Amino acid sequence: MKFDDLLETKKTLINNALNYYLPPAEQYPQDIHRAMRYSVFAGGKRLRPLLVLLATELFTADWKNALSVACSLELIHTYSLIHDDLPAMDNDDYRRGQLTAHKVFGEALAILAGDALLTLAFEILAAEKQDKNGSHSFYHLKASPAIKLKIIWEIANSAGVRGMVGGQAVDLDSEGKTVDLDTLQYIDTHKTGKLLTASVRAGALLGGATPDELARLTAYARLLGRGFQIVDDLLDVEGDPEKMGKTGGQDAQRGKANYVSYFGRAAAKNKRDQLYAQAIAELSSFGDKNLSLQKITRRAFYRNY
Ligand code: IPE
Ligand code: IPE
Ligand code: MG
Ligand code: MG
Ligand code: MG
Repeated sequence: MKFDDLLETKKTLINNALNYYLPPAEQYPQDIHRAMRYSVFAGGKRLRPLLVLLATELFTADWKNALSVACSLELIHTYSLIHDDLPAMDNDDYRRGQLTAHKVFGEALAILAGDALLTLAFEILAAEKQDKNGSHSFYHLKASPAIKLKIIWEIANSAGVRGMVGGQAVDLDSEGKTVDLDTLQYIDTHKTGKLLTASVRAGALLGGATPDELARLTAYARLLGRGFQIVDDLLDVEGDPEKMGKTGGQDAQRGKANYVSYFGRAAAKNKRDQLYAQAIAELSSFGDKNLSLQKITRRAFYRNY
């Protein structure tokens, strides 16, 4: 199967699973359900859930068992975008090619939709659901309690104040300031790197990676996470807003401290290339099995949206 087709197949499965997990739009209370679905189904590259599935697939053919983990990361990521766009944070009007959630549903409902997506992610991970006939439901995680707990810890840790939330706090605090390289690195590795790293690690944990394999994948994912944010910052300056589905030039306007604003586009591109080469090198020890991860990594680093 061509890689594009493989990704499309997996994205369709991810979207079907998300549709299963999210409450129906017509179910009471409709407004919050509509707001949740509005942001989740606006599009998005689905990079985090794809990473979960591809990381699981390194170790087992039963990657479909990772769909619940994959979706939980996409729900948390979407919550982080809804809150990131709020007037109190980045104050953005467009996301994933449409008006931001708070523009359509109001700030209160946008905040609650974010809260609900975050919480739903953990409900899905912890669920013990069975079909009517008693067999295990396709959409629920089949894993030992010990592995489930490890995955839940991993995702909670990466989403919270030791992860994405911590990075967002420093990002906001650094607006309009001159910060040092350690602070820039903290922002990138936390606000963006942590959820990406958790995606790879959770997939690998479910697949049964050894501690050594997990360590190598963690090193890979951290490099990817940092590179991914540097590319996001580059695209804010030179990307096509139509393709990205969000307004460009926002970072300069808000005085965001990032690699591009500090070192310029040329240096940022050098850094991106260096991080890409290091990330690919970390994957090489997995031999031919890592080809899909290699390909998605190339796309993440050299994307134009
Ligand atoms: C945007 O993430 C925010 C960052 C963490 C850089 P993505 O570029 O993955 O956004 P979607 O999911 O494709 O919309
Ligand atoms: C986003 O960083 C990080 C998140 C945790 C959402 P940005 O603020 O640069 O992301 P965009 O450019 O709005 O997508
Ligand atoms: Mg932001
Ligand atoms: Mg933003
Ligand atoms: Mg950005």
